[in-house]
Amino acid sequence: MDNRPIGVFDSGLGGLTGVRELRKRLPSENIVYFGDTGRVPYGSRSHETILQYARQDIAFLLSRNVKCIMAACGTVSSTYPPEEAAKLPVPYMGVVSSAARRAARATRSRKIGVIGTSATIRSHSYELTLRRLVPGAEITAKACPLFVSLVENGYVDGAPPQMQQVTRLVIGQYLEEVRAAGIDTLILGCTHYPLLAGMIGEYMGPAVTLIDPGRAAADDLDQLLAGKGLRASRERGRTRFYVSDVPDSFIHTADLFLGEYRGGTAEQICIDQY
Ligand code: DGL
Repeated sequence: MDNRPIGVFDSGLGGLTGVRELRKRLPSENIVYFGDTGRVPYGSRSHETILQYARQDIAFLLSRNVKCIMAACGTVSSTYPPEEAAKLPVPYMGVVSSAARRAARATRSRKIGVIGTSATIRSHSYELTLRRLVPGAEITAKACPLFVSLVENGYVDGAPPQMQQVTRLVIGQYLEEVRAAGIDTLILGCTHYPLLAGMIGEYMGPAVTLIDPGRAAADDLDQLLAGKGLRASRERGRTRFYVSDVPDSFIHTADLFLGEYRGGTAEQICIDQY
């Protein structure tokens, strides 16, 4: 048993979609969440910059005495090298391998789609992992940078019809070639995309299985903690939130991603000190 918190980080607040999944699966765990709201977005930045930011984010979480670290961010998970992760003093998990494994189990046709930020798609992280897991896989990858802005501005599933109409137009524009490739499995490779799963699912059709990386990673983290004897022993865990910009609109945005925001404000920290 280990009652230290789980550390979760993301470029901003999108990673709270991962926290939502963790809370469902591991309700007794304490979570420390860091959202780099002062430097978001990561998805349009260079490899070097994302790496430097990820190292600082991890250093901050380690300073909070976490027992393991989950990068909820698709962009960081695609960039931070496994060799470096292996040298950290606590277990580290990104979302790419969990989501790829789940996609490998789901596909029948071996035709798999991947969508994510520009940096995620440019890194080829999903293709490299999927090709190892699914020999002969046909992968169609597409960067969908506008999705992040749409989600952050509330153009999500369940929004008023005119707003959803705008999102549907963008979905059609980005995903036309992915749909035409005849895939049967689509990885929603960015923290924000699960909030568009309804509209994306409608566009792709019922034969396509959508994979939520945050959910897949939460399942794997559950197993990892169980396997290493690191689960918490308390009744109900708490989540503490840290951000790198002023937390003014935190409650509103956190609610969007977390679905069931349960109190507590965010504390601002200076990430440049890490
Ligand atoms: N959290 C990022 C991801 O999952 C999306 C937002 C960003 O570009 O920073 O890739």
